[in-house]
Amino acid sequence: MTSKPMRAAVIGAGWAGEQHLLSYKQLGLEVVAVSDATSAASERIAAKHSVADQYADYRELLARDDIDVISVATPNYLHAPMTIAALDSGKHVMCEKPLARTAAEAKMMVDAAERNNRALMVAFNHRQRGDVRLLRRHIEEGGLGTVYHAKSYWLRRDGIPGLGGWFTSKEQAGGGPFIDLGVHMLDMAMHLLGELRVISASAAAYAEFGARGRGSRGDAVAGSKSGMDVEDFATAFLRLEGGVTLNLDASWAMFREVNDLFGVRLYGTEGGAAINVVNYTSDDTLTIYRDVAGAPAEIHPKCPPSLGHLGVVSRFVDVVKSGDWADHRGRDGFDRSVVLDACYRSAEEGREVQIAEILSSL
Ligand SMILES: NC(=O)c1ccc[n+]([C@@H]2O[C@H](COP(=O)([O-])OP(=O)(O)OC[C@H]3O[C@@H](n4cnc5c(N)ncnc54)[C@H](O)[C@@H]3O)[C@@H](O)[C@H]2O)c1
Repeated sequence: MTSKPMRAAVIGAGWAGEQHLLSYKQLGLEVVAVSDATSAASERIAAKHSVADQYADYRELLARDDIDVISVATPNYLHAPMTIAALDSGKHVMCEKPLARTAAEAKMMVDAAERNNRALMVAFNHRQRGDVRLLRRHIEEGGLGTVYHAKSYWLRRDGIPGLGGWFTSKEQAGGGPFIDLGVHMLDMAMHLLGELRVISASAAAYAEFGARGRGSRGDAVAGSKSGMDVEDFATAFLRLEGGVTLNLDASWAMFREVNDLFGVRLYGTEGGAAINVVNYTSDDTLTIYRDVAGAPAEIHPKCPPSLGHLGVVSRFVDVVKSGDWADHRGRDGFDRSVVLDACYRSAEEGREVQIAEILSSL
């Protein structure tokens, strides 16, 4: 256990990077530097949060030996090179989701954490929602019996982010809503199901909106043609160990209600549960279904507050402070990448893909 005050830095000064920065500050760490390729972005964030140093080249930031922890909050194609360089420079890393564009990249990141004996954790902040934490405890206490089927989803009507920018480029993002939003919902479901092993994936992906310049809420990157070459909706059926099954859907755009909806449903032998989140609300999002005196009943528990990024960053800081990070080498982020690879391969080839097939190719 070390008592030395910890110093942090953030690479990527967009929305996500600012959440990491705010969390470190709230936890009492000193944020000594920020790096962004766009100087206006790093200047804005440094001035707003009183950060002393700014770097356009993240390698200069990593060359410093007075920084303990780094957050990587850049576009997905930069996660692997930046994280590996940060781990090789002796820092502990909190990386934004998805850990990487592919399982092969994620494996290199996990290997770098092991090689350097450093912590690598992924910002799966939705696990820190109050409803998820409460439901997890209820499942662990046996409240649902054996869960045999689950659904998780994140669906938008017109929510393609930055149409024409890095989010909609296969090369830069690795995929569309399935890797962007689906990774959160896969993580939420797997976390609630107790990290069961995934056996196979059967998926389909569609690109009906973005390629025609439709499906964004007006934040298309100025002056660009759509150029979108990722899906705008994908759906998957996963087989898990013990005969458990999971449906996963993610869309940036499709004809449905005008809202942003995500959630998970679990069906067990003694009860069921649904988390349904409309437009990021935290009010009355969890329902438990069971029988009371032989009659169907719905219970609406009062959930603890959601912790979001503060929750994941706080967990990361605690792990680093504890001096024991052997179980925190990005393994959960890698596991999600393997499943996403299997889904994308299944959609491309129109067949069920075994997880073993992906693992043996790494
Ligand atoms: N966990 C969440 O809820 C959540 C939410 C949004 C985004 N994200 C993730 O966070 C990451 C960033 O997303 P965002 O929405 O903040 O994107 P963004 O495009 O708003 O910000 C990314 C920043 O990285 C900077 N950047 C690009 N190249 C760089 C380089 N070579 N060196 C330093 N900085 C560079 C950009 O200039 C930009 O300021 C993505 O991986 C995304 O998936 C996570």
